[in-house]
Amino acid sequence: MTQCVPTAAGLESIDLTDPRTFIETDLHAMWARFRAEQPVYRHPATGGAPPFWVLSRHADVLAVYRDNKRFTSERGNVLATLLQGEDSASRKMLAVTDGPRHREIRNLMLKSFSPRVLEPVVAGVHRRTGALLDQALERGTLDFVTELADHIPINTIGDLMGVPAEDREQLVHWNTLTLSRTSADDSETEEWLARNEILLYFSGLAAERRRRPGDDVISALATGTVDGAPLSEEEIIFNCYSLIIGGDESSRMSSIGALIALADHPDQWRALKDGAVEPGAAVEEVLRWTTPAMHFGRRALVDVEIGGRTLRAGDVVTLWNSSANFDEEVFPDPYRFDLARTPNKHVAFGYGPHFCLGAFLGRTHVDAMLAALRSRVGRIEILGSPLRLYSNFVHGYVGLPVRLTA
Ligand code: HEM
Repeated sequence: MTQCVPTAAGLESIDLTDPRTFIETDLHAMWARFRAEQPVYRHPATGGAPPFWVLSRHADVLAVYRDNKRFTSERGNVLATLLQGEDSASRKMLAVTDGPRHREIRNLMLKSFSPRVLEPVVAGVHRRTGALLDQALERGTLDFVTELADHIPINTIGDLMGVPAEDREQLVHWNTLTLSRTSADDSETEEWLARNEILLYFSGLAAERRRRPGDDVISALATGTVDGAPLSEEEIIFNCYSLIIGGDESSRMSSIGALIALADHPDQWRALKDGAVEPGAAVEEVLRWTTPAMHFGRRALVDVEIGGRTLRAGDVVTLWNSSANFDEEVFPDPYRFDLARTPNKHVAFGYGPHFCLGAFLGRTHVDAMLAALRSRVGRIEILGSPLRLYSNFVHGYVGLPVRLTA
């Protein structure tokens, strides 16, 4: 893998819309330069897409996340949709809805994420992770992504949504086609078809839950009301889609990243094994270190000044979590993987009104993986180059050959 440090020639040569940039560049070095030289940077237009702003400092990223009065998510919240001008799920899916309706739908969904509802789910995550790791240890060598990590969060979110067990393998397959491209050659049509299959699948399940509701998130969406009226069919389906995608991909990526980080940092692996680090702190450091959602974005509703530059109403603004989480102003010695790091004010789950709905579940997955590795595994060996996800949005891996020894 080539690791090009951006040259002194200028940051203008970097194309943040191109997934290759995130595979071929030394990202820590690149973001350090953005923070130091161009913390509020206007990215030039690329291939027909308009210019957009790039915020790389923790303080600026936080300020925009927090400010849903002057910045909206309703025209998209990731580069791909923001640059198209609109998200097809706008004002139907929680993450791309703002204002009172966002609050109401969020409150409705939050009921399914209360500690009481999640208690059995948490126990299930620990059980499943432990059992899969036991099987992995029997095999010795395996692909940690496809043979282990891929099977954990999909089942958690599947339980929470009441997705029949026999359908889950199919959903993992569609999720993978939707998000886990490995190169520019992967077909965008396949990606689009898989997305439609997921929407169609949930349309059927939502209709069924309307008739026979159960104790699951889909039933809560299908039978709940906002302002005295039920949610539209599209609202239900798009929110199911966002849960299955959001609930699966990022959690998987942080657990895979955790294994790589522990293999690369034997001192931290030892500290974890010896019980020298507090589990809560270790989970937060893994989330900061891996930052699966590299960016989110907004559109400015009015002119706003940030860092001496004026963002105009209508401009697209991207917030780079993967830079903010290594900002030396906030994190002393940011490139040190330190499981005991505290405080740890990372923005892996965003911040403010759209703060991740599944943060508790995301943390649970990392916690379960660290606990299972600690109690069962003696030695981690990475056997080849991890295969990186081809994306300008999710940072992660689609393949990781490893040998685990008890
Ligand atoms: C490590 C795992 C995870 C990471 C890193 C992550 C990251 C994020 C981030 C950064 C946001 C903010 C988006 C924005 O401001 O536009 C977000 C929102 C959201 N996440 Fe997660 N997420 C994770 C796990 C989950 C899980 C397990 C679920 C579902 C069960 C989930 C569902 C959602 C939803 C529905 C939103 C939208 C919330 C809103 O707009 O009010 N996420 N996530």
